[in-house]
Amino acid sequence: MQHASRVVTSNQPGPHQDLARRVQRALAHPLKKPVADHSRQAFEQASLWREQTSAPLILDAGCGVGLSTRRLAERFPDHAVIGVDRSESRLGREHGAPPDNALLVRADLIDFWRLALAAGWAPERHYLLYPNPYPKAAHLKMRWHGHPVFPAVLALGGQLEVRSNWQIYIEEFAQAVALATHRQATVESLTPGPSYLTPFEAKYAQSGQPLWRLTCTLQSHTVGAQGLSNL
Ligand SMILES: C[S@@+](CC[C@H](N)C(=O)[O-])C[C@H]1O[C@@H](n2cnc3c(N)ncnc32)[C@H](O)[C@@H]1O
Repeated sequence: MQHASRVVTSNQPGPHQDLARRVQRALAHPLKKPVADHSRQAFEQASLWREQTSAPLILDAGCGVGLSTRRLAERFPDHAVIGVDRSESRLGREHGAPPDNALLVRADLIDFWRLALAAGWAPERHYLLYPNPYPKAAHLKMRWHGHPVFPAVLALGGQLEVRSNWQIYIEEFAQAVALATHRQATVESLTPGPSYLTPFEAKYAQSGQPLWRLTCTLQSHTVGAQGLSNL
């Protein structure tokens, strides 16, 4: 039986007051953290797979068990879909072989995104589906839009879609996109169809939680592409 999932609770009444400062800092100081060897190997494998096709790329960042990667691959049969997650146990859960146009990769996104950008990847679509909300105010820097890797996420470009059950996460993300790119993202409530895109989406929707979506179209390789030469 599916257990009801709890709504996100936070000591933040609205978007974080430090958000602009964090985004400015991330733009001014590109992340210097060295890339781990295992990330590099995972990225090389993904690159080899990618080189076998000229199909446009879709990234499913933080794909969990990879159901969304499979569903996106079915929905976009003419695209190559790469799902990335750092959790071996999640990726290892058996949901059948992915379709030929999908690949699941175990890697830390903080490395994978930077390597993808340095390699000139420009995904046509980029999904961040139900990222960990880190709802405590003190944890702003762990949310993707408060993290130093954020400029690399934007610089990959393409149609970015973020989904969350925490409205503040989506509002903050939109503010961060506007600060970094001067583009206005679309924020809307989301009523998923009967075929949920991810297990977290199913869990939240079946518990009656409102869901939120941000979409925006970004130009690739314009934001934060500097500072990648040390990779
Ligand atoms: C809340 S789950 C959502 C999973 C899936 N998108 C879904 O909706 O069912 C967040 C996922 O992000 C992954 N994740 C968090 N930080 C990550 C990182 N730095 N690199 C790769 N994956 C990460 C976690 O392992 C987890 O699977």
